[in-house]
Amino acid sequence: MKQFIAGLPKAELHLHIEGTFEPELMFKLAERNGITLPYESVEALHKAYDFSQLQDFLDIYYQGMNVLRTEQDFYDLTWAYLEKVAKEAVRHVEIFYDPQGHVDRGVSFETALNGIHSALVQGEKEFGISFGIIMCFLRHLDEDAAFGTLDSALAHKDKIIGVGLDSSEMGHPPSKFERVFAKARDEGFHIVAHAGEEGPPEYIVEALDLLNVERVDHGNTCLQDPELVKRLVKEQIPLTVCPLSNTKLCVVDDMKNHPLPEMLKLGLKAMINSDDPAYFGGYLNENYEAVSGILGDDKETLALLAKNSFTSAFISQDAKDGFVAEVEAYIKG
Ligand code: ADE
Ligand code: ZN
Repeated sequence: MKQFIAGLPKAELHLHIEGTFEPELMFKLAERNGITLPYESVEALHKAYDFSQLQDFLDIYYQGMNVLRTEQDFYDLTWAYLEKVAKEAVRHVEIFYDPQGHVDRGVSFETALNGIHSALVQGEKEFGISFGIIMCFLRHLDEDAAFGTLDSALAHKDKIIGVGLDSSEMGHPPSKFERVFAKARDEGFHIVAHAGEEGPPEYIVEALDLLNVERVDHGNTCLQDPELVKRLVKEQIPLTVCPLSNTKLCVVDDMKNHPLPEMLKLGLKAMINSDDPAYFGGYLNENYEAVSGILGDDKETLALLAKNSFTSAFISQDAKDGFVAEVEAYIKG
């Protein structure tokens, strides 16, 4: 099954590029930038990756991204990710990044964006991985800050395809950003939001009704609300599910209890993603492997998840059809 998963063509739709910052690279860039990390070694840093909720992780994640200073740093970070997933049959990536996490510590909007973007352009040339960039607003910050970030993005519509919402969910409902997302929509950006990771199903309803999301990032808690499930199924709103993230952040107590099989049984359009792989113990293939067992090691279901990843992407119908045909050819063998 591991071999089947390794060769299965797939897309990644929920991946924070800052969450791919491996400790080895973090130490290397810290040295290059003359920064002293508050950890003695790669091993000590790894040991700190013990989280009991989302906020524990976010504290360490924001500390880690502080090492990223130059355009070259963002390039190197993105390139390391691409080199890794090029070997995992990943054909298309839609990458999140947190501009406010950089601008607020003095790194310009363009420095982060250009570094990430130029690595993705090179990755498309060298590995044939197509891509999109989605910038996320940090929901623990206020509406004004999000408006300012959206303004900065307007000059870069050639590079940024969408806007999302991430960071601390509890106490920061989608409604807080209704007006910002209305403007982003008017400006032609695709719309997604993290909702229902730790937050209640009402946050998912708000993301749908107030932000008009095209996909829900995570969406796990929809299962607490049968009416919401019915709606998500009827409208076939994609849920970008992240299995290893869910167990690492204690959203799910054990992989054997992961709701993905239940989601598929109900007819929800879910697929598998890696979220912050450097922190959660695995990239896309490891996430597929983690749930494969509870899906009965069923190749058809794994292929359905891969197809869902492509049909939920912000790409043309032709591109979707091409990728789906590739998955079908692969399972016919
Ligand atoms: N930022 C990076 N990863 C995140 C997650 N899983 N939830 C919310 N914000 C995030
Ligand atoms: Zn996420």
